[in-house]
Amino acid sequence: EHGVFTYDPAFTATCSTQSDITYIDGAEGILLYRGYPVDQLAENSSFLEVAYLVLYGELPTTPQLDEFVGAITQHTMLNESLSKFFDGFHYDAHPMAMMTGIVGSLSAFYHDTTDIRDDGHREIFARRMIAKMPTIAAAAYKHSVGQPKMYPRNDLDYTSNFLHMLFAVPAETYEVDPIAAKALDVLFILHADHEQNASTSTVRMAGSTGTNPYAAIASGIAALWGPAHGGANEAVLNMLGEIGDISQVPRYLEKAKDKDDPFRLMGFGHRVYKNFDPRATIIRGYCHEVLQHLGIENHPLFELAMELERIALEDDYFKERKLYPNVDFYSGIIYQALGIPINMFTSMFAIARTVGWAAHWCEMQNDPAMRIARPRQIYTGSPKRSYTPIDQR
Ligand code: SDX
Repeated sequence: EHGVFTYDPAFTATCSTQSDITYIDGAEGILLYRGYPVDQLAENSSFLEVAYLVLYGELPTTPQLDEFVGAITQHTMLNESLSKFFDGFHYDAHPMAMMTGIVGSLSAFYHDTTDIRDDGHREIFARRMIAKMPTIAAAAYKHSVGQPKMYPRNDLDYTSNFLHMLFAVPAETYEVDPIAAKALDVLFILHADHEQNASTSTVRMAGSTGTNPYAAIASGIAALWGPAHGGANEAVLNMLGEIGDISQVPRYLEKAKDKDDPFRLMGFGHRVYKNFDPRATIIRGYCHEVLQHLGIENHPLFELAMELERIALEDDYFKERKLYPNVDFYSGIIYQALGIPINMFTSMFAIARTVGWAAHWCEMQNDPAMRIARPRQIYTGSPKRSYTPIDQR
C-alpha cells in the first residue's frame, strides 16, 4: 500500500483527536477546562469539584458534588494484598517506578468489573483511580523511607488526607496545615488536565487498543516521569541544587544556551505556550504566599530561583525563542517549601493528572471516530536484500 503520509516527527502539527475537555491558546496563554478559565477555578473551586467538571462536563450541584466526594472517599483504600506489592520493591526505588507498577497491577485486581463498553463501569474506573492515586503515591513514599504506611483518613478532605498519609507516623499526632493543604489543592487543580500532552496522548494511544484502563493509566504515569514532561519539577530542584549559588546563575545560563552542552534550563519552555504558561502565573503568586506563610521567603534556594527567572526573562536567547517559566518551575519550589521530598514531586503531578487521563480515556470510548491509533513511518533502512549464510558474512 502506498498512501500519502505526512512526516510530522514529535507531532508538532498533528491533531490526534477531537475533544470537549480542555482548550489551550498557546499564543495568548489561555487555559480553559470545559470552558471555565483555570484561574477562576483555582480561585473559587476545589480539586474534587474540578475533577467532577473535567469528567462530566459541568460544574456539580451540591447533591452531585456530595455524592461524588462520598464515592471518592469510599474508594481510597487499597486492597491489603495490593499493599504487599510494595514490599517487593527495593528501598531506594523511585516513587514513580513503584506507581507505574502498582497502578498497572490494578488491572489484575479489577479486570472483572471493567467492561469498557459499559458507562457505569467506566465511571467506577475513573472514581476508583482518582481515589486511590494519593494512597498509592503516599504508600510509595512511605516504602522509600522505611516507615509504616498510613491508612486513608476519610474524615479529611482529599488533599489533607494525602498530606496526612504522607507525613503522619503512627502513635504521633500530625495536624495538617490548612494553608499547605489549600496550596496543594490549587496545584492539583492547575495540573488536572492539559489536552494532548505526552502522557495523555500515551493513555489515549494505549486506550485505543481496548486495553484495560488501569494498564492505560500506568502507561501515562511512565510517560509523565521523563524530565522533559512531569519529571521537570524534580529536575528544577536538582538543577537549583547544582547551580548552588546566585553567583553561578550567569554561567549556567550560558550552558543552557550552548547547543553542545546537554544542560537545559529545567522548568523553562513549552511546546504550546509561547507566552507565560497561565498556570505558572497563578502558581507564582501562590509561591510567594506560601513562602511568606512559612516564613522562608528569604531562603537562599528561593532567592536563587527568583534570580534565575529574572535573568532568563531578560536574556535575548530566551526572549527570541519565547521560553518562559512553565508550571513545573514554580510547582517544584512550592513542593519543596511544603516539605515534600524531591523524588515525590512527579508523583504529585501524577495524582492530579489522573483526572485528565481518566476523562480522556472515558471520552474516547464514546467517540465514534475511535479506532486503534496506528501512525506510519518513513523507512530509512536498507533496501531489499538477500539473506547471506553466516559463513559468508
Ligand atoms: C510539562 O505539553 C504539555 O502540556 C506538558 C505540560 C502538561 O501540563 O502536561 O505542560 C507539563 O511537561 C511542562 C514542560 C516541562 N519540561 C521542562 O521544563 C524541561 C525543559 N524544557 C524543554 O526541554 C522544552 O522547552 C520542552 C520539552 C518543554 C518543549 O520542547 P519543544 O517543544 O520540543 O521545544 P524545542 O526543544 O524544539 O525548543 C525550541 C528552541 C530550541 O532552540 P533552537 O534549536 O531553536 O535554537 O528552544 C530551545 C531549544 O534548544 N529550548 C531551550 C529550552 N527549551 C527549549 N533552551 C534552553 N533551555 C530550555 N529549557
